[in-house]
Amino acid sequence: MKNEMEKDILKVLYSEEEIRARVQEMGNALGEQFQGKNPLFLGVLKGSFVFMSDLVRACPVKSDVEFIAVSSYGNGTESSGRVKIVHDIQQDITGRNVIVVEDILDSGNTLAFLKEYFLTKGASAITIVTLLDKPSRRKKAITADYAGFVVPDEFVVGYGLDYGQKYRNLPYIGVLKPEVYAE
Ligand code: IMP
Ligand code: MG
Repeated sequence: MKNEMEKDILKVLYSEEEIRARVQEMGNALGEQFQGKNPLFLGVLKGSFVFMSDLVRACPVKSDVEFIAVSSYGNGTESSGRVKIVHDIQQDITGRNVIVVEDILDSGNTLAFLKEYFLTKGASAITIVTLLDKPSRRKKAITADYAGFVVPDEFVVGYGLDYGQKYRNLPYIGVLKPEVYAE
């Protein structure tokens, strides 16, 4: 069956195969760092859900999985700057090694807020893992411990990342055609 989203994509930045290989490398590196440390993978919804599911399977250590849902974007391509918790974590994270899993680190507003939040909730260490890093747009002093790919200042979709809640289910990461924003 033809993929009806394909016609909206200007170019593919990272193919399914490239993503798979990079996620496996990250999983291995996290495995080395966290072996025997029972880390808690904490995914930031909704964008991280695809990356999270691949990353935890690529990381061969005993770990738990948790999610938090935040919103800062509205439905456009610019961050509002305010981070709102839409669905909070459902467990005590006191003393835990928390691996925060994000789709993209852009202005840094979301992760700066969440890092502080998880520390006040008692996490003993926070490791930030992001699939994509867009350092050119950073507003907060925050860096990822692990970043899959450094991306140029373009709005990207796919592999969990959305535009107006769509395109999350594309298996690759691509750039949308400008006319899609204009619609
Ligand atoms: P930050 O708070 O500005 O760092 O933004 C983080 C959130 O903004 C991410 O979790 C994404 O949901 C969203 N975001 C930032 N850049 C993009 C993009 O290029 N495509 C899709 N979503 C993005
Ligand atoms: Mg988003």
